[in-house]
Amino acid sequence: IKNFRGRDFITTRAFSREEIDYLIDLAVELKQLRELEIEFLPLRGKTIGMLFRKPSTRTRSSFEVGIAELGGIPFYFRPDEMQLTRGEPVKDTARVLDRYLKGFVIRTFGQDEVEEFAKYMKVPVINALTDLEHPCQVLADLMTIREKKGKWDGLRVVYTGDIWNVAHSLIVEAPRHGMDFIIAVPKGYEPNEEIWKFAEQEARKRGTRLEIVHDLNEAVKGADVVIANTWWSMGKPEQEKDKRKEDFKPFTVTPSHMELAKPDVIFMHCLPAYRGNEMTEEVIEGKWSVVFDEAENRLHTEKAVLTAVIP
Ligand code: CP
Ligand code: NVA
Repeated sequence: IKNFRGRDFITTRAFSREEIDYLIDLAVELKQLRELEIEFLPLRGKTIGMLFRKPSTRTRSSFEVGIAELGGIPFYFRPDEMQLTRGEPVKDTARVLDRYLKGFVIRTFGQDEVEEFAKYMKVPVINALTDLEHPCQVLADLMTIREKKGKWDGLRVVYTGDIWNVAHSLIVEAPRHGMDFIIAVPKGYEPNEEIWKFAEQEARKRGTRLEIVHDLNEAVKGADVVIANTWWSMGKPEQEKDKRKEDFKPFTVTPSHMELAKPDVIFMHCLPAYRGNEMTEEVIEGKWSVVFDEAENRLHTEKAVLTAVIP
């Protein structure tokens, strides 16, 4: 664990495959401790700040609960109440908060803003979602997949939805965990280049498939895991909404798609989910769906990150 102390958790790319697995193993242990109601208070007396510039149900509440369960004090900043929104520079805000806090959790638009906070803060900075990545989500997703499938190696994982934060983090982690990762999207929707290059290298090294296809029926054949995500991520221009709805129409996951997959296929979604868009009610409420176990694992994996990085 001493390898983690004081480190930022901004992108999983900054961690090795072994380090990511360590965090997931730690999350499994923390889940057991919680079930046994055994107290574990590594953050006792430590205040962790949280600034969210986008809405959140899961990430905010799981962090607040997680920090409290580890003995710490969560301190939530409403962005509209901060001088940041009246033009105080990030670098000043960061250096001030650094004097008070033992860690800082931030959800915002640009990855560069998170990086700027990290540059000016000595305490660990944790990415609670940017436009580019959602590293906390992918830890929970990896944990959920291993819980349900008993392994990662050799699984066929299909993703459909906006190629944005959640997709990028899966693109980074699926290949290096030995999974084939197939993205089914309309033509014209492309991932971030830097993310794609990183993942292609990993896929080549491990001999896994990483591809983008435009036919959901073909993609889901033989799938072990189907992951859906919204078609219209937070911060996307309002004007794009109708076009995206039109483009993504053939990509609604229905029970007949799930029937084309392996008999024991699972359905995942980071939530919030939009029924009638990325999947139908029957899919998200059906026998395949593990979305609430996945949401629960956000708590355990975030507690693992906090336990590992906060000095
Ligand atoms: N999955 C996820 O990050 O949900 P929230 O936006 O509710 O935090
Ligand atoms: N891709 C979605 C994920 C929400 C948790 C978004 O950015 O809105």
